[in-house]
Amino acid sequence: MSQKLIVVLISGSGSNLQAIIDAAAASGSYKIAGVLSNRADAYGLVRAANAAIPTAVVEHAQFADRESFDAALMHQIDSWKPDLVVLAGFMRILTEGFVQHYNGRLINIHPSLLPKYKGLNTHARAIEAGDSEHGCTVHFVCPELDAGAPIIQAATPVYSEDSIESLQQRIHELEHRIYPVAVEWFAAGRLQQQERFAILDGERLPPGGQRYEVAS
Ligand code: GRF
Repeated sequence: MSQKLIVVLISGSGSNLQAIIDAAAASGSYKIAGVLSNRADAYGLVRAANAAIPTAVVEHAQFADRESFDAALMHQIDSWKPDLVVLAGFMRILTEGFVQHYNGRLINIHPSLLPKYKGLNTHARAIEAGDSEHGCTVHFVCPELDAGAPIIQAATPVYSEDSIESLQQRIHELEHRIYPVAVEWFAAGRLQQQERFAILDGERLPPGGQRYEVAS
């Protein structure tokens, strides 16, 4: 089977990117063709350069509107000919045109057990609500924010002594485990988006996606 090409979009530290870089080295099924950031100072660019992965910066501040920014993003991304585009802490809302262009081959990671807590401040919202568990979800991207079909989800208990930071750190570690799993599934041809659903090995995944069993 031919090696799939992926492109990763970042805005910051890129610790999820690092998890995917490490997993790509171990997997024969895909290769990171490029890393794109909307910020020149994103540390993830250093991680990519250290792994000899091509990088590009497209700064949103240089564009008059979202449409022209997204057109420049697409131009750069498509020059790498990706099979899959991976949003890993990319902190810009994308236009419907962008999302449609990559329909079925665009995934994101979100720090909540979707469909709970779409949007920002998810850790604080889970603590405030007194939730007994919180987590993260990899999902296909659709035009509506954080509403695309969930692929895989991992959870951790919320402890009474948890702060936003302690919870965020545990969730981040879970993100690093599940994101490479989803990328591997896609690259191996096991995962597709069909209409509003994620399909794994020919079966429709449950509403939150596949539950990742956290080894204790
Ligand atoms: C993660 O918490 C992810 O859930 C959110 O952005 C953050 C990215 O972190 N979408 P990093 O840049 O991968 O370290």
